[in-house]
Amino acid sequence: MQEAGILGLGCYLPPKRLTNSDLEKIMDTSDEWIITRTGIKERRIASSEKATSDLGLEASRAAIKDAGLKPEDIDLIITATITPDMAFPATACIIQDKIGARNAAAFDINAACSGFVFALIIAQQFVNTGFYRNVLVVGAEKLTSIVDWKDRSTCILFGDGAGACVVGRSEDRRILSGFMGADGSGGHLLSVPAGGSRLPATEDTLKNGLHFLKMEGNEVFKIAVRIMVDAANKAIKKAGLELDDISLFIPHQANIRILLAVARRLGVPEEKIFMNIERYGNMSAASTAVALAEAGQQKKIKKGDNIVLVAFGGGLTYGAAVIKW
Ligand code: UT7
Repeated sequence: MQEAGILGLGCYLPPKRLTNSDLEKIMDTSDEWIITRTGIKERRIASSEKATSDLGLEASRAAIKDAGLKPEDIDLIITATITPDMAFPATACIIQDKIGARNAAAFDINAACSGFVFALIIAQQFVNTGFYRNVLVVGAEKLTSIVDWKDRSTCILFGDGAGACVVGRSEDRRILSGFMGADGSGGHLLSVPAGGSRLPATEDTLKNGLHFLKMEGNEVFKIAVRIMVDAANKAIKKAGLELDDISLFIPHQANIRILLAVARRLGVPEEKIFMNIERYGNMSAASTAVALAEAGQQKKIKKGDNIVLVAFGGGLTYGAAVIKW
């Protein structure tokens, strides 16, 4: 068994900011409502000519550089996204071509907001077994392409961005454990109903807005707290650690109230919960990827610290990973 660790990290946020006061001008909402109900002040919006692969490409370049590698050194690219450039080819293949990773296999995974955590755990298995040496893991989303700007209960939440890391043989920043779970019975709570084989695009699906993201926010909220706490505890136990051994939790940035409820239920102080939701909103698979890269860049994690990445999302899916820095 090879030890698998994080060799490099990177992220990319499109420069254009959409603030709550910008939203006040186009819909019946308020800065005050959005901040108190969600913790979000602004989110990033990719321009119309950019697709998810373009965001993922920038984050990937930064992660490969940070790892001190070249694109040719990458053996596999896994992209976690629910906003692929198109149904196929996979966004990972598009990134592979654009970045010039000519020796890499590439595929996408769809685990919604848990996607980056799932992809990290998948990468860990390939490195542990020796099947691959360097795996590029990308969480990238252009969620503003699937939100319904007429639905104020969802569109205020989401933003665009990408984060990436290279997983390879390393004793440092070692992935100690991972846990993944799913509950398909809750799939209807968070979905884009049309555009797949169940409801291919028709005039009716377009007219009824079925290509937009739909969410039963209250239901998702309740389940989110419970399953994130459960996933974090399971991964900590698998790593042979106790809650007190964890220096920082990096959760999926869905809603500040969810993050604070998770802290309360875990019994950890707020300071141990990494938050950047205020600046970016919810970026689905990109949220934990960007948060991990920022926590690393901002030196919020010291050598020897144990950290927990934890996420939940559409599927429903949930997962967590423990990393020793
Ligand atoms: O990563 C994907 C997972 N997704 C999530 O984790 C999201 C989880 N859910 C949530 O974050 C919250 O449920 C929301 C932020 C989506 C909604 O917050 P809430 O506290 O559950 O509000 P609500 O849906 O119960 O709505 C309360 C009120 C309603 O008005 P009435 O019926 O009480 O008169 C809504 O119409 O707030 C109203 N409302 C708004 N008001 C101003 C809903 N959206 C807005 C808005 N601005 N943008």
